[in-house]
Amino acid sequence: MIYQVYVRSFLDSTGDGIGDLAGVRAGLPYLKKLGVDGIWLSPFYPSPQHDHGYDVADYCDVDPLFGDLDEFDRLVGAARRLGIKVLLDIVPNHCSSEHPWFREALAAPAGSPARARFHFADGRGPDGAEPPNNWHAMFGGPAWSRVTEPDGTPGQWYLHMFTPEQPDWNWREPEVAAEFDRVLRFWLDRGVDGFRIDVAAGLYKHPELPDSDDPEADARTRDSVNPLAWNQPEVHDVWRRWRSICEEYTERDGLDRLLVGEVSVPTAREHARYVRPDELHQAFFFDLLSASWDADAFRKVISEAMQDIAGTGSTVTWVLNNHDQVRTVTRYGEPATEGSGLGAARARAAALLMLALPGAAYIYQGEELGLPEVVDLPDDVLTDPIFRRTGSRARIRDGCRVPLPWSGQASPFGFTPGTESAKPWLPQPEYFAEYATDRALADTRSFWHLYRDGLQLRSQLPQLGEGTLRWLDAPPGVLAFERGDDLVCAVNFGTAPTPAPVSGTPLLASGPCPPGVLSGSTAAWWIRS
Ligand code: GLC
Repeated sequence: MIYQVYVRSFLDSTGDGIGDLAGVRAGLPYLKKLGVDGIWLSPFYPSPQHDHGYDVADYCDVDPLFGDLDEFDRLVGAARRLGIKVLLDIVPNHCSSEHPWFREALAAPAGSPARARFHFADGRGPDGAEPPNNWHAMFGGPAWSRVTEPDGTPGQWYLHMFTPEQPDWNWREPEVAAEFDRVLRFWLDRGVDGFRIDVAAGLYKHPELPDSDDPEADARTRDSVNPLAWNQPEVHDVWRRWRSICEEYTERDGLDRLLVGEVSVPTAREHARYVRPDELHQAFFFDLLSASWDADAFRKVISEAMQDIAGTGSTVTWVLNNHDQVRTVTRYGEPATEGSGLGAARARAAALLMLALPGAAYIYQGEELGLPEVVDLPDDVLTDPIFRRTGSRARIRDGCRVPLPWSGQASPFGFTPGTESAKPWLPQPEYFAEYATDRALADTRSFWHLYRDGLQLRSQLPQLGEGTLRWLDAPPGVLAFERGDDLVCAVNFGTAPTPAPVSGTPLLASGPCPPGVLSGSTAAWWIRS
């Protein structure tokens, strides 16, 4: 189980209102207590922060906002002493427009080797004033921006599948691949255990960059669906190459390395291709995250994953929350019924379901506290580029990125040292007091205890280790499956109680469950006697 640390919102050690690497180090004992195997750190590299660090200006350093390389080394050392693995977020599809190679490309003429590292092309129309093709960027607007040539005339266009500040690398240029080999080695030499790979179905584009039949599909669905821009066959060679670099390190020191991809592709079968034995070890299977709170929907995505991914001998990597998505408590609470607690009950049940599935599980900071999405942030504090680029229509990713509450009754809730005058980079609502980690730890009914207990059992019970699952008969609206010979997990998606599939008291339940009953919006684990 890997815990995603969104560094700028985890814990601030300096008082500037932005979380940092020293803050992560200070939080490690908390994570150890929770029972995580490893952490994934969101990007902390030098960056102008147009997309909170997913616009990297230097892949081999630390932005002063977050610390420096010495602090990074201290963090890795402290994590190692606690037995916590460290994964970095690597961003190979695009860099920042401030990256020295992109600046060099801007200063170089059309057709130069410096431009070949990116996708520069002449525009269409009589004076080249139209973009080279009709693709739209994921975050809205055209996927091309026009540059002014060094002599001051309007010039070529460059491709950016996200914001204009994130030019896409041209992976057909061997220098780009070689540079990323160097980046991997730089961090592996510093002791990291692996990488979460951003946009891992990206990198290569169709070689001719032709027009798309549905150019706005990515922006419309907020998913990488343009078949010409994503999931090109050549990308698999990159993962083979990165896997062999990891294996080289493992051969040297006997320690495992892990590559986990952010892979968004149309089907589970396509997804399975990314986790073939010589490619990525893991790839997030987002269909569970996208499924609505419905027994049939959950059963369908779990069955497809078990058949198409686990069926090929790979691991399925489950995830319910991350820094790009509305948090489960709020998502499952729709339509919102004030004070019903339905979203929270369902999110607790989903957590037990996920932890019972065969495969890897990732949780996103705050998930273990049951944090809801902060839905009422004022427009002037929103920083997600999607908000800006959709003409202030899509308020999507700030509400799950609000800094964590650690203690106390008022913001900054121990997130940042000092007093109320210290302002977290996004404002924390008053009700965060209820979710602070000190309260969660003290209350055995909290989300935190559910996650901690679930993780403890997951590491102790061989039934919850490798292997598969067997569906059991269950009434409509209930999912039940068995792991190993005797561990049963059941989830009641409805609101009315149903008979439990196993008599006796559950080993662990996400809500009150009298013997023989599976309460509504509840999941439980039993060992059959
Ligand atoms: C991934 C990241 C997201 C980022 C995007 C562009 O989807 O998770 O936060 O904005 O890539 O790098």
